[in-house]
Amino acid sequence: MTDTIFLGIESSCDDTAAALVTGDRRILSNVVSSQTDLHADFGGVVPEIAARAHAERLDLAVEQALAEAGIGLDALSGIAVTAGPGLIGGVLAGVMCAKGLAAGTGLPLVGVNHLAGHALTPRLTDGIDFPYVMLLVSGGHCQFLRVDGPDDFTRLGGTIDDAPGEAFDKVAKLLALPQPGGPSVEAEAAGGDPDRLPLPRPLLDRRGCDMSFSGLKTAALRQRDQLIAAHGGLRAQDRRDLCAAFQTAVAEVLAEKARRALAASPAPVLAVAGGVAANRQIRAALESVAAAAGARFLAPPLRLCTDNGAMIAWAGIERFRTGHRDGLDLAARPRWPLDRRAAPMLGSGKKGAKA
Ligand code: KG4
Ligand code: ZN
Repeated sequence: MTDTIFLGIESSCDDTAAALVTGDRRILSNVVSSQTDLHADFGGVVPEIAARAHAERLDLAVEQALAEAGIGLDALSGIAVTAGPGLIGGVLAGVMCAKGLAAGTGLPLVGVNHLAGHALTPRLTDGIDFPYVMLLVSGGHCQFLRVDGPDDFTRLGGTIDDAPGEAFDKVAKLLALPQPGGPSVEAEAAGGDPDRLPLPRPLLDRRGCDMSFSGLKTAALRQRDQLIAAHGGLRAQDRRDLCAAFQTAVAEVLAEKARRALAASPAPVLAVAGGVAANRQIRAALESVAAAAGARFLAPPLRLCTDNGAMIAWAGIERFRTGHRDGLDLAARPRWPLDRRAAPMLGSGKKGAKA
């Protein structure tokens, strides 16, 4: 048993989430209300629509999380909330909700970095110790981190333009496949030949762990146009082969950069989080890199890999245990690099500035 129970609130992108987590790593409830339908017609997340939807749904999500756990606010030990980085309107909505609850109950308030939430998830799911190497790979994030403590992150490298999930989504769009693109491209790739249509492996010639996926997407577009010009349209097998080539290129780049991350910063565990971690070829590639480096490979279950409140509650508990508390002056931050020593990255994802 534990006497620590945290409420975690997440609203930095397009998921409104609230969860209850205990100090001994039990998830009592994990409510995620997705806004995918609200943004579907716009080809990306519309910040103003997202912020309004968060403001409307946050207290319902909190109520549902408490009801599912069968407890009241009086059972809580603290309130954790994503205070950045992310779309500022959504982050503000979450921070205001958390402040209101903290002011009303007198409970401690802990502001959490969204990326720290992702990066500390393997400690919630598997109870691993520090240090470990983490790859965050989703529609909005892509970076390698060395994690040495709840607030001690070293960025080993990251994308200088698009995140891989964003590239999957764009490639799906240019092949007229349904969104989100990752699962559609993966399904097509299963029947494709990855070697027929050559695509580049961006930045592999450059030392270090930085990555780039925007050129890969453009190269896929050129291949598509050449195929259309040659055959008067895109044949089903062309589409499958292009998806296989693209997926293999992403998997090879991520695997090689992961190999370098583990070589530069040896650790007993390589963990991965984010929607792209669902991809079987990418997972398998990372798994063999980890095995070759003598590291354990960890991928939390998908509902804890993608945006959720449980990771925020857990990161809040970890910060709380180090003595961290925030006041009602807690600020919402659109940008909040995890590694304060690292230079800012050039790009930001379609889902807003992430680091
Ligand atoms: O972590 P996530 O749910 O949301 C954020 O980006 O914050 O990640 C969503 C991204 C989308 O771009 C989606 O296309 C990608 O993850 N994705 C995949 C797969 N499933 C989801 N990418 C490649 N293969 C998949 N199976
Ligand atoms: Zn995220």
